[in-house]
Amino acid sequence: MNTQAQEQEQATDAAAQQPPTDAATQQQPEASDAAPQEAPKKTPEWQEEINCMSCSGGGAGRVLRSIQAKQAAARVAANHLVIVGATSAMAEHCARNWAARGPKRITLIGRNAERLERVAADLRVRAPQAAVETRVLPDFCDAAAIDALIEQLWNLGPVDWALIAHGMLAEQGDCERDLTLCRDMLMVNGVSPALFAEAIGSRMQQMGRGKLAVIGSVAGDRGRKANYSYGAGKGMVERYVQGLQHRLALAGSDVRVTLIKPGPTDTPMTAKLKAAGTRMASVESVAQTIIEGIDAGKATIYAPWKWALIMGVVRHIPAAIFHKLNI
Ligand SMILES: NC(=O)c1ccc[n+]([C@@H]2O[C@H](COP(=O)([O-])OP(=O)(O)OC[C@H]3O[C@@H](n4cnc5c(N)ncnc54)[C@H](OP(=O)(O)O)[C@@H]3O)[C@@H](O)[C@H]2O)c1
Repeated sequence: MNTQAQEQEQATDAAAQQPPTDAATQQQPEASDAAPQEAPKKTPEWQEEINCMSCSGGGAGRVLRSIQAKQAAARVAANHLVIVGATSAMAEHCARNWAARGPKRITLIGRNAERLERVAADLRVRAPQAAVETRVLPDFCDAAAIDALIEQLWNLGPVDWALIAHGMLAEQGDCERDLTLCRDMLMVNGVSPALFAEAIGSRMQQMGRGKLAVIGSVAGDRGRKANYSYGAGKGMVERYVQGLQHRLALAGSDVRVTLIKPGPTDTPMTAKLKAAGTRMASVESVAQTIIEGIDAGKATIYAPWKWALIMGVVRHIPAAIFHKLNI
């Protein structure tokens, strides 16, 4: 194992020994009659950096080292990384980036054994120190099967990071004509990721740590004629993730949940759109934006960032005008 991998392993082991935040909160001693002790005042991070800059022997070098140390801490590898919908092009590119950080275990979940194995073989080369396993789940909407699978994974060891990436895109016109297809779009893009997020997020909350990221879409920001069956599923994921984030924040949990909203990206899902001339972001750049946003613990990531602006405008167009636009 190289030095970097050892450092990462020590860092993650040290993190694993921290007491779970939720449990710690529940075990607070009851208030006593003794005079309350004043809590030591915590210096804000920005103040620490200014202090550091002005202290003797410090200067810009120390500030830089402090910032670099924080960035390195954010990039620390997860001991156990789980990817749901691991055969997705976006997920695969995120996995390659994480593999370089030296995780001990990577579990890939998908519905097709052969495609999963292809992704796993690539990661085994990129992360030779990691045990890369695959789990096939034939029906991603089977709540009992999802719960049993996630429970099985947790029994083998806690999951530190998880990415939920699966999704399907059918023609909107076909969904209007075929209600079974319309239902599948709502289930696969909405209900299924929500069930996985609940199963994983709740266990992370019990554990007191973890990073969970779920891929939604800019299409979830406002219902549009062009793709509202897809967008409705993605919109549901957004509401579910918001609720989970709210619950974890109120519980004082250290678990971070991130919603990712990509714009059109060059993957197999959008092959037809690309052929029709739609401009696409590269999957590599989108994966990089996703990774950086998760590292920074962001609640929502637009990838590329320009979509935050574009959808900000689209969301706020008054209905009277919006209903005249064929967008
Ligand atoms: N590409 C874009 O422009 C774009 C934009 C916004 C959001 N997104 C979202 O980004 C995520 C990743 O998509 P991608 O662009 O990387 O597409 P992709 O390469 O085509 O991957 C799609 C993934 O979804 C899985 N999947 C498809 N139908 C499924 C079903 N019925 N049940 C379970 N899994 C199913 C696929 O599994 P199999 O390999 O078994 O088929 C594959 O893992 C998706 O959530 C997508 O909605 C994509």
